[in-house]
Amino acid sequence: MADKREKFGGRLAVILAMAGSAIGLGNIWRFPYMVGEHGGAAFVIVYVIATLLISLPVFLAEVMIGRRSHTNARDAFARLSRHHPFWKGVGFLTILIPTLIASYYSVIGGWSVEYLIKSFGFAFVRTPPEEVSGLFGAFVSSTWMPLVMHLVFLAASVGVVAGGVKSGIEKFSKVSLPVLFLLILFILVYSVTLPGAGAGVRYLLHPDWSQLTPRTFAYAMGQSFFSLSLGMGAIITYGSYVNKKENILATSAGTALSDLLFAILAGFAIMPAVFAAGVEPGAGPGLIFQSVPYVFSKMGADLPLLSGIVSAVFFLAIIVAAMTSLISLVEVGVSFLMERSGISRGKACLVLFGICGTLGTLCSLSFGPLSGVTVAGMTIFDLLDWICSNVLLLVMALLAVVFVGWILPRSVVRDEFTSREMYAFNDRIFPLVWFLIKWVAPVAVVIIFFTNFIL
Ligand code: PHE
Repeated sequence: MADKREKFGGRLAVILAMAGSAIGLGNIWRFPYMVGEHGGAAFVIVYVIATLLISLPVFLAEVMIGRRSHTNARDAFARLSRHHPFWKGVGFLTILIPTLIASYYSVIGGWSVEYLIKSFGFAFVRTPPEEVSGLFGAFVSSTWMPLVMHLVFLAASVGVVAGGVKSGIEKFSKVSLPVLFLLILFILVYSVTLPGAGAGVRYLLHPDWSQLTPRTFAYAMGQSFFSLSLGMGAIITYGSYVNKKENILATSAGTALSDLLFAILAGFAIMPAVFAAGVEPGAGPGLIFQSVPYVFSKMGADLPLLSGIVSAVFFLAIIVAAMTSLISLVEVGVSFLMERSGISRGKACLVLFGICGTLGTLCSLSFGPLSGVTVAGMTIFDLLDWICSNVLLLVMALLAVVFVGWILPRSVVRDEFTSREMYAFNDRIFPLVWFLIKWVAPVAVVIIFFTNFIL
C-alpha cells in the first residue's frame, strides 16, 4: 500500500507545489494590507525575521512529519506516536481545519472570478472612482452570483486535485507559478511608473519604528504562518509526497524564500498604485476588492485600455494564486479519505466538493441573506476566518512543532533532516535547527497566542 503512494517528481516539483500552496491570498490580499496597517517597512523587517527564525523551523517540522510517516496528515501523527490517543485526536484536527478553511477560501476565490469578469467588461474603468467600492458590497450581499462563482472556483480547484499528485497538482503548479510571477511583475511595473507612485515605494522602504508594538510581532508571525500554509496539514500532506532522498532544507528554504519574495513583490505591485491614487494604505481587508479597483477607475480616466488590461491581469493573478493554495487544502482531506476508506481519488474529490461547497455556501450567504446570523457579533464567514486563522492555525502549528521537538526522538529528527546523513551541511547546522524547533518556535507561538488574546 505504502509504495503505491504517489510522489512529486523532483526538487523543483516539490518547491513549485509547496510554493503554490504558500503563495496565495495571504500574499496578495493579506500581506499588503497588514503592511499598510502596521508601519510599512518596519513590519516587513519583523516579518522577514519571523519567517526565518520561527516559520521556517515549523515548516521543516511539518515536512518531516509528512515524509517520515509517509501517509496522510491524520495518520501521520498516529503512526509516529505509535497510536497515542492524544496525537490521534490532533491528527483528526489536521483534516478538519483545512477543510473549514477551504470552504471560505473558495468564496474569496469566487469573488476574484467575478472581478475578473467585471474587468473584461471594463466595469472599473466605466464606474466613477467614488462608486467603485460600492460594487463590492452590492456583489457580495447578493444571493446567487457569489454562490455560483464560489462553486465554479471550487470545482476548478477540485478538478486539478482529481488529476492526482503528479499529473494534477504538480503539473498545474509547474505552469501556474511561473505565470504568476510574470503577472505580478507586469502589475509592479505598471504600478511603480504611475505618477505619484514614489510615495508608496518610500512607504515600503522606510521603517516607521514608532509603529512597532508587541502586537506587530504577533501579527507578523501569524501572517507568516498563514502565508507558509502552516498549521493546516497541507505541508504535512505535501511532505508525505517528497522523496526520501530529497534535501528538505533546500526545498523548505526554497519555498519560504519564494513566498517571501512574492509577498514583497505584491507589496510593490499594490502600494505604489494605492498611493498614486491617494487611497488610504491601511484600508484593511477591503484593499484588493475596493481600494485597488478604485485605482483602476481613477487611472482609467486617462488610459482606459491599459487600466482595463491591468485590472484583468491583477484579478487573474489572484485567481491563480488562490487556486494553488485551495488545491493544497483540498488535498489534505482527499488523501485522508483515500487512505482511510479506500475510496478512489475521484470519489474523495466529490466528497470534499460536497462538504466545502455546502460550508462555503453558508459563508457566502453570510454577506447577504444570512448576515443576521451571528455568533459573538461575528457572521459565519468572519467566525470561520477568525477561529481558523487566529486560533486553530496557531494551535496546530504549535502541536506540530512540539511533536517534532519533544515527542520524536532527536535521532529520528536528525535522520530525517539529513536524509539519512546524505547532506553534510544539514548535519552541521542540525544543532541550530533542533534548538529552533525545540525551544524558539514553541515559545514564540505561545507568546503570539497570548499577545493576540490579552493585549
Ligand atoms: N498560504 C496560503 C496563502 O497565503 C493560505 C493557506 C493556508 C493555504 C494554509 C494552505 C494552507 O494564501
